[in-house]
Amino acid sequence: MVRSIIPLISVLAVATVGHSAPSAPGWQFNLKQELSGIVALESIVVSPTLVLWFDRATDDPLQVNGHSAWGALWNLETNTVRALDVLTNSFCASGALLSNGSMVSVGGDPSGFPGNPAIRPGTQAIRIFEPCASPTGEGCTVFEDPVTLHLLEKRWYPSSLRIFDGSLMIVGGMHEETPFYNTDPELSFEFFPPKESTTRPSEFLNRSLPANLFPRVFALPDGKVFMVANNQSIIYDIEANTERILPDIPNNVRVTNPIDGSAILLPLSPPDFIPEVLVCGGTQTDTIDPLLLTSQTPATSQCSRIRLDEEGIAKGWQVEHMLEPRMMPELVHLPNGQVLIANGARSGFAAVASVSDPVGNSNADHAVLVPSIYTPNVPLGQRISNTGLPSSGIARVYHSSITLTPQGNFLIAGSNPNNNVTVGPGIKFPSEFRVQTLDPPFMVVERPKILDMPKKLAFNKSFTVPISVPLSLARPGARVQISLMDLGFSSHAFHSSARLVFMNGRISQDGKSPPFTTPPNGRVYPPGPATVFLTIDDVTSEGAWVMMGSGNSPPTLE
Ligand SMILES: *[C@@H]1O[C@H](CO)[C@@H](O)[C@H](O)[C@H]1NC(C)=O
Ligand SMILES: *[C@@H]1O[C@H](CO)[C@@H](O)[C@H](O)[C@H]1NC(C)=O
Ligand SMILES: *[C@@H]1O[C@H](CO)[C@@H](O)[C@H](O)[C@H]1NC(C)=O
Ligand SMILES: *[C@@H]1O[C@H](CO)[C@@H](O)[C@H](O)[C@H]1NC(C)=O
Ligand SMILES: *[C@@H]1O[C@H](CO)[C@@H](O)[C@H](O)[C@H]1NC(C)=O
Repeated sequence: MVRSIIPLISVLAVATVGHSAPSAPGWQFNLKQELSGIVALESIVVSPTLVLWFDRATDDPLQVNGHSAWGALWNLETNTVRALDVLTNSFCASGALLSNGSMVSVGGDPSGFPGNPAIRPGTQAIRIFEPCASPTGEGCTVFEDPVTLHLLEKRWYPSSLRIFDGSLMIVGGMHEETPFYNTDPELSFEFFPPKESTTRPSEFLNRSLPANLFPRVFALPDGKVFMVANNQSIIYDIEANTERILPDIPNNVRVTNPIDGSAILLPLSPPDFIPEVLVCGGTQTDTIDPLLLTSQTPATSQCSRIRLDEEGIAKGWQVEHMLEPRMMPELVHLPNGQVLIANGARSGFAAVASVSDPVGNSNADHAVLVPSIYTPNVPLGQRISNTGLPSSGIARVYHSSITLTPQGNFLIAGSNPNNNVTVGPGIKFPSEFRVQTLDPPFMVVERPKILDMPKKLAFNKSFTVPISVPLSLARPGARVQISLMDLGFSSHAFHSSARLVFMNGRISQDGKSPPFTTPPNGRVYPPGPATVFLTIDDVTSEGAWVMMGSGNSPPTLE
């Protein structure tokens, strides 16, 4: 079929005769030939072609400068891996992209590993990966200077989030390595770059002990931050340094490490950008004593959703159910506004070899292999489906990751509920080095294309860009969506900073390419890198990598 490079509206106008759709292709898992080389425990897209992975610093097979690597770049074009030499132990760190495009990873583990003398303690680490112009990552490195550049406090298992001024907010964590829950908490927030010389104590982190590692945190469109930890939630006002207590997650369900549920900010739509958060999985338990818990303790299928305006808060959490219980699911945006629910297990817990009956070293069992799709804008009870979704065939449990790519499919790797590289026959949950993509049906049909995109987009402005639309999609009344997305940082079943802001105004009738309006300000989309996708009737283009805002270093309001 011929691609038309004429403007959308004209295409829609001329395509009055129906064109038969190509025979319906399905979702597919595709196994890559190359292995990941390190366990892809944390995952973040850092350029149109590169995904940065971090692992625990141990004995991964991929080598760099004479030792096992624990950082690597996965090339989305060639499906190959390149080792990165990281200084500090990035085990259970978090991170995000800043307003100037640099990736910052924070926190980590205090320990070294026998036979790998290169490892430095990571609990106060700040690791910077500057924007990388090379499509292959050549010459791009992680910068660290632990003596002069470090967090104020030690943080293993912290969360982090890009906020309205493009800087990073760092939440919670613990000081030392503990086997299961938070026994040595750091009950505070801090920022990078720092906003003050001391940390900010948090009563919320204190109240939500002890299952409050990797809090699920979200930048709201008014600049405040919504947080979920254990079974509690608050809105934190960064500027006033105050918290407002919101309702608990219903039915005694707990959702943060080591009881990992996942959570996601549902797509924000103009003109009001009313935020809603969905929290899925975890489990119901009153005890945190690992010896009273088992790998067979059922997870919960509960999802809870709350709309974060006054009316929604008064109404509280609305409960619905996944098709199966899941511990450690991950929730990831699709460019059309749906949410993929992937990975995880039907029973047990996060963490390694601490419950009474681990499976090998895994605290969890009964991996869920078939993803589901959540459709936010249909009635309760009809939102979750796995029709047409295949089985991955590979358990992705603790220490696995998944991310949407700029190509529009999902990169899935990792899983390692073990303390070091553990592979071999008879091991049910090994260190997993196989890499897959999960390809939506649109990957194999003719797709719309964004033919050009400015490198930077200013806030609150209208843009028109040239696009092409295959004839198969050119029909009057087609649903057109333009999404501005942060692809997030995947760690411990949570995609911090992940965001989708729709930019469609109405499609204009002037015969030009579709105009879209950028978010009004950095509260709606924190300034920083973004991927823009065009979706027509659920067929999504490849993403265009842009800088939303000025590209200034944080803090910046433009
Ligand atoms: C945490 O809360 C307890 C009361 O539940 C209190 O005794 C303690 O001082 C609090 N700790 C911090 C650091 O706020
Ligand atoms: C949240 O957890 C606390 C402490 O275990 C419990 O007392 C409370 O009832 C739970 N809330 C809900 C709504 O289940
Ligand atoms: C690897 O982990 C296992 C426990 O899971 C432990 O017995 C072994 O000593 C570890 N190896 C090293 C080199 O630390
Ligand atoms: C966005 O621009 C419009 C004019 O195009 C203006 O009326 C509005 O105040 C601006 N909003 C913000 C948040 O700057
Ligand atoms: C971005 O800002 C951070 C924090 O100030 C800084 O460390 C980093 O070098 C900056 N990157 C660029 C590309 O300016």
